[in-house]
Amino acid sequence: MSRYFTFYGTFFICALACACHNFNDDGECKQECPPMKKYNAISYSWLTNPNGKYAYGATCVGDCPDSGTCVQSCPLKKKDVNGECVPCAGPCSKTCQGAVSVHNGNIDSFKDCTILEGSLTILDHSFDGFQVVYQNFTFGDKYPEMHPSKLEVFSTLEEVTGYINIQATHPEFTNLSFLRNLQVISGRETTEYFSSLYIAKTSLKSLGLRSLRRISSGNVYILENNNLCFAENIRWLKLFKGDELKFQLLLQNNKNEKFCRTGGFVCHEECSEDGCWDIGDDQCLSCRNFKLGDRCVNNCSMFGIYEKESKVCANCHEECEGGCYGSDSSNCVRCKNVKDGPYCVATCPSSKYNNNGECENCHGNCIEGCKGPDNNVGERGCNSCKKALVNDKNDIEYCLQENEQCPYGYFSELVVRKSSGLLKSMVDEFQTSLKHFLQKRFLDYTAFKL
Ligand SMILES: *[C@@H]1O[C@H](CO)[C@@H](O)[C@H](O)[C@H]1NC(C)=O
Ligand SMILES: *[C@@H]1O[C@H](CO)[C@@H](O)[C@H](O)[C@H]1NC(C)=O
Ligand SMILES: *[C@@H]1O[C@H](CO)[C@@H](O)[C@H](O)[C@H]1NC(C)=O
Repeated sequence: MSRYFTFYGTFFICALACACHNFNDDGECKQECPPMKKYNAISYSWLTNPNGKYAYGATCVGDCPDSGTCVQSCPLKKKDVNGECVPCAGPCSKTCQGAVSVHNGNIDSFKDCTILEGSLTILDHSFDGFQVVYQNFTFGDKYPEMHPSKLEVFSTLEEVTGYINIQATHPEFTNLSFLRNLQVISGRETTEYFSSLYIAKTSLKSLGLRSLRRISSGNVYILENNNLCFAENIRWLKLFKGDELKFQLLLQNNKNEKFCRTGGFVCHEECSEDGCWDIGDDQCLSCRNFKLGDRCVNNCSMFGIYEKESKVCANCHEECEGGCYGSDSSNCVRCKNVKDGPYCVATCPSSKYNNNGECENCHGNCIEGCKGPDNNVGERGCNSCKKALVNDKNDIEYCLQENEQCPYGYFSELVVRKSSGLLKSMVDEFQTSLKHFLQKRFLDYTAFKL
């Protein structure tokens, strides 16, 4: 081991280092702020760390000084909850305003929306393009044509507070699968015939609204869609949740069921009598046998799934291999990676090492984990320790606790980690003054890294 007298971890260099990449935690320079969650070796779980801190700029703070600023903006797929970025279940929530109609000029403004405050209208001119003409007969904006594939921006939409009005034909406009995540049509405003779902004279072959659970208000009118299958056999009352008498449902002059059948446009055999939105086991209103996520399946005896409750199957935990008996990672037949107590995990927590697929505790003197049980730094021991006993050949004999006294005959000495990049160049600059400083001040602090 070569000894490297570079400096790490006290005040005056730290201040500079923090300004560059690291965090300042109460005057101490750290790679990162103390985490909000900490591994608990007794319960094998991640618990809230009472000493956890948020990153506020380059400073670690216990409470967010002003809510929302500790995380300037959360990364993709995460949302800000009290200054902490937590994963969104599904797409992160975003509310957008509806428009008179969808067209090439506004379609991109609906990207990533989950709630449309207002209504969604698709008319022939949405695809064909059009020019705005004002009441005073002057011309406004001109919008070019738009391919139906652009409607895919609506795939994150979960709720429309107003209505959905579709009256458009295009050879490639054959289903509404771009609304596959739409769950609720609230119908707070309605269109023709007080409808909240109005689909007339379209080129649609199927609706594909596989997530639609509720139409809260307004009528459903589906008329004159010559190619449309499935719609007439949907048990629409299920979507009207108890208020069925208040609704009007009109399905007229859509494709004849007999022709749908001969064309193969029939519900999957695992769908119940409630009907379906399209071909496929993920398009059923409800399942004949079991539900597995979005799909309907015959039973839960397929590989990698288990019976969660009556009529519901679920996937085994991702860390399971060879099936499971329940939902969490302690119910696996085998672990895909390693086992920590009863739980299957991707990697052992940093205070443990992988002993042939089982996580075992590192020696208590280790810091930054270990590769084996031994109380030294090396292939069978700690990755590092705060203090170590070094023999005259500079080999580590064993690790000590940071505040443990050196045994008789040894003296305590500051040895510092190898630094690289910017920190190292700063360190070199400070080298001279540092030596001087160290001579004057005794620091009982030793850190090793091989
Ligand atoms: C016509 O109406 C539009 C929109 O209301 C307005 O922006 C435009 O200035 C008007 N043009 C004339 C000539 O009055
Ligand atoms: C629905 O329409 C899209 C876009 O035209 C198409 O790619 C997809 O195959 C259609 N889905 C079904 C089930 O027909
Ligand atoms: C379970 O479902 C699969 C797929 O549909 C089927 O092949 C299998 O026979 C079923 N097993 C039992 C026990 O019903």
